[in-house]
Amino acid sequence: MQPMPAHRRPKLSDAAGVSAGGGDDRLSALPDDLLIHILLKLQDAPVAARTSVLARRWRRVWALLPELHFPDGTDSDGIRAALAVHDAPAISLLSVAAIKATPESVAAWLPIDACRLSGVLDFRNRGTMDETSAASPLKLPCFQNATKVVLDLDSIGLTLPPSGIFTRLAELVLTSIHLHGPCSISDVVSSSRCPSLQRLVVSSVKGLDKFTIHSESLLELVLSGLPGLHQLNVVALALKDLAVRGCFTDALNRGQHIANISAPQLVTLDWKSSYDPSSVQLGEMAHLQQLTTQYLIVYGQYVFSAHNRHCLMLLQRFDHIRRLVLYLVYAPLQVNGRFLMEEMTNFPNITSLTLNVVACSHSFGASSFHVLSMSSGVRELEIRLVDLPSEHEALASVCQSGCICAEPSNWETKELVLHCLKEVVISGLRGTEHELAFVKRLFNWTTVLKRMTVNFRVSMTESKAKELRQQLLSFSRPRICMKFLQHGKACSFD
Ligand SMILES: *[C@@H]1O[C@H](CO)[C@@H](O)[C@H](O)[C@H]1NC(C)=O
Ligand SMILES: *[C@@H]1O[C@H](CO)[C@@H](O)[C@H](O)[C@H]1NC(C)=O
Ligand SMILES: *[C@@H]1O[C@H](CO)[C@@H](O)[C@H](O)[C@H]1NC(C)=O
Ligand SMILES: *[C@@H]1O[C@H](CO)[C@@H](O)[C@H](O)[C@H]1NC(C)=O
Repeated sequence: MQPMPAHRRPKLSDAAGVSAGGGDDRLSALPDDLLIHILLKLQDAPVAARTSVLARRWRRVWALLPELHFPDGTDSDGIRAALAVHDAPAISLLSVAAIKATPESVAAWLPIDACRLSGVLDFRNRGTMDETSAASPLKLPCFQNATKVVLDLDSIGLTLPPSGIFTRLAELVLTSIHLHGPCSISDVVSSSRCPSLQRLVVSSVKGLDKFTIHSESLLELVLSGLPGLHQLNVVALALKDLAVRGCFTDALNRGQHIANISAPQLVTLDWKSSYDPSSVQLGEMAHLQQLTTQYLIVYGQYVFSAHNRHCLMLLQRFDHIRRLVLYLVYAPLQVNGRFLMEEMTNFPNITSLTLNVVACSHSFGASSFHVLSMSSGVRELEIRLVDLPSEHEALASVCQSGCICAEPSNWETKELVLHCLKEVVISGLRGTEHELAFVKRLFNWTTVLKRMTVNFRVSMTESKAKELRQQLLSFSRPRICMKFLQHGKACSFD
């Protein structure tokens, strides 16, 4: 038999057309699970539903899809209608990206699947909300079978279910939400109602002034952008990672007791918030390996010195930490400010140091020298040269001749021996004079350096990278292995 010419071969749409008429088509020969696989590839519930209009068989299969994606801007009537005809016994993923949703519109579909949701709910809303939505907040159903719930609501008001157990919930992410009573988040996330919770993220949530969690299962807790929080109690015996960023800002001046953390298995602590041993109680943390602290302002007046004190007091809390992550920030730079790093006199014993330097084109030699002179036992050093986040760019000041960043200048001549330092990684290098002067000195301070890896700025031209490489090699010594990367890959000339 002659092969069929290409233009006569049946297409998927032909087949679907036949099937719509109820004929025995080629698609019907496919088993249900293969059809489900094809529909899942469409990744988008309205498209899958439209496809299913083509064929009764497809529609039946669509209704069995375990994963439902409603892309950007699907209206809530569409979601409601789709969920109403959808009758898979369990939904493993329900993903909705709404635009300007209101609590009323979400309430039309969200409770439908509270029982059937056996996996992940990912609901994100975008677009400014009017004030009226705060008056009638969305009621979150109790998802007894869900394993993960992500809600990023762009300020929609939300109330939590006053009863019910989230039996299988392992991960809960709440972002940009305005929480309303009467049930508080503290009542929901502890082991009594969330016995499987392992990861909890609460970020930019309004209406949260006190938070208490008692959890036996929790492994990771992230609290960020909660300036109004003024009381935090954590009792989490299995907790490994804790991040508390941008919290307690409003409680700071009241001098009250703000936090009590009991997490004896903690491995990493990222505390970019106020800290004072009289108002924050960090229980025993014998297994702590990594500490990240609040930003340190390098030059400034009294208010910045007060700001830095939180970081310095936190450093004093620990004698020994494997890895320390610090931020040195050169903004805002005041003409009559002073070098605030001198107030840093105590340092834990560390083996690995990461310095995130936000230099805003200033020389960072003096501040880095000061930190390194107190970490003489360090074996690994990573220096990340980073920019101010764009929303703070206005704070950056220009480095002109006679700039305060030249002081104190002892780092240019004073001896420093980093007798354990074997490995250095520098990222974000642009190749400015200030940067090169520092790297040159850094070689001089090391005695057993084995390897230096330099990641050039992503925007750097190849010819500039070549030139810099020559310069850096000229500072190096024969036994040091130098590696140059750009975009995370070895430079082509390397
Ligand atoms: C939760 O899942 C279990 C097993 O997967 C099932 O037996 C139970 O009916 C589900 N619960 C609800 C409320 O759907
Ligand atoms: C902090 O919490 C621990 C453990 O729950 C408790 O024993 C201690 O009394 C609390 N401290 C304060 C000051 O509340
Ligand atoms: C720091 O740790 C090292 C190695 O564990 C030890 O030899 C040294 O004495 C410690 N220094 C201080 C000040 O605790
Ligand atoms: C560092 O520089 C001094 C002189 O400025 C020199 O004596 C010393 O040997 C240098 N050290 C290393 C490790 O290069």
